Amino acid sequence: MIIPKTILVTGCAGFIGSNFVKTFRARYPRTKIVGIDDFSTGRKDALPKDITFYRGSITDMRLLKRIFSSHRPEYVFHFAARPRVSYGVLHPAETTLVNIYGTVAMLEQSRDHDVKRFIYSSSSSIYGGAKKLPTKESENLPRPVSPYGLQKYTGEPFCKMFSDLYGLDTVSLRYFNVFGPGQYGNSPYSTVISAWLETLYVSNRRKPFLEGNGTQSRDFCYVENVVDANIRAMRYAKRLNGEAFNIAHGERTNLLEVKKLIEKYSGRKLNIEKRPPRLGDVRHTQADIGKARKMLGYRPRVDFRTGLRHTIAWFTEREKKEKKG
Ligand SMILES: NC(=O)c1ccc[n+]([C@@H]2O[C@H](COP(=O)([O-])OP(=O)(O)OC[C@H]3O[C@@H](n4cnc5c(N)ncnc54)[C@H](O)[C@@H]3O)[C@@H](O)[C@H]2O)c1
Repeated sequence: MIIPKTILVTGCAGFIGSNFVKTFRARYPRTKIVGIDDFSTGRKDALPKDITFYRGSITDMRLLKRIFSSHRPEYVFHFAARPRVSYGVLHPAETTLVNIYGTVAMLEQSRDHDVKRFIYSSSSSIYGGAKKLPTKESENLPRPVSPYGLQKYTGEPFCKMFSDLYGLDTVSLRYFNVFGPGQYGNSPYSTVISAWLETLYVSNRRKPFLEGNGTQSRDFCYVENVVDANIRAMRYAKRLNGEAFNIAHGERTNLLEVKKLIEKYSGRKLNIEKRPPRLGDVRHTQADIGKARKMLGYRPRVDFRTGLRHTIAWFTEREKKEKKG
């Protein structure tokens, strides 16, 4: 069994990164966790306490050199990015610097410091509008239609190239619509579940809205499943050489159904404002997770409904805290 001495987690104050650190810490209590984050979207209160933390950017090569040479991480979990499709549409240059240059800088340092495997957070957005549902990695070639999708995609062939050219082992995990505790819904770029719950529990100044008629559907993936996939990718015994895997539940839920379930589990009514469909929005996403299942032994351990209940429980706690303080 692999028990690493040290791992490096980028974006450790973000939604997925902070959930990852908590679970990893519980499963590997003796491993030293080193983290880096610049708090551009991450939050200080999400930062796990028991890690060695560097505040700074993955675009700062001098800082990266210092971190890699002082700690010699065996595995790198690369979550840091400037996310969200709509933010990238507005800021293509800034996001390209972080999402492409930052990733290559991390790969270069990993190559130079004998990292055993580099685990890259890719995204379903690389598919653009997938032609075949459920989407299989082999049947749907990447065809990104946004700067974010292109940036996330570019990281993948870079990972593969670092494996082929330098022998650094790498793997790309394509997450589909991640949700769960720790995902705040208070930014204009928030995803639908967190944005709706935020209006129900935390701020009723914003009105929840729905773009289109709600029959569009997504393969929503509970965050613990993504965390588990990352740990499985670390433990995989053979080389992965840049292989890419879909990570999702493998089923889709439409937004009207999401609304119904939120109302049922919360006992509150979502008064949703209808808006015109978002330009260029993909109608449906649904992953075929057969490859991850077969090679990594990945199973979505938490199903969509259970994940939604956990997420609502977290918003309920936040509401209580905010009322107190
Ligand atoms: N949430 C999703 O639905 C989803 C879907 C597919 C892929 N992903 C990918 O998963 C990863 C994590 O996403 P998330 O949802 O947790 O987003 P997030 O915004 O919560 O986390 C990203 C973290 O990276 C940090 N960061 C940004 N730029 C940085 C820089 N230059 N240097 C250091 N740290 C920096 C941010 O401060 C933040 O803490 C990203 O790579 C994202 O592209 C997310």
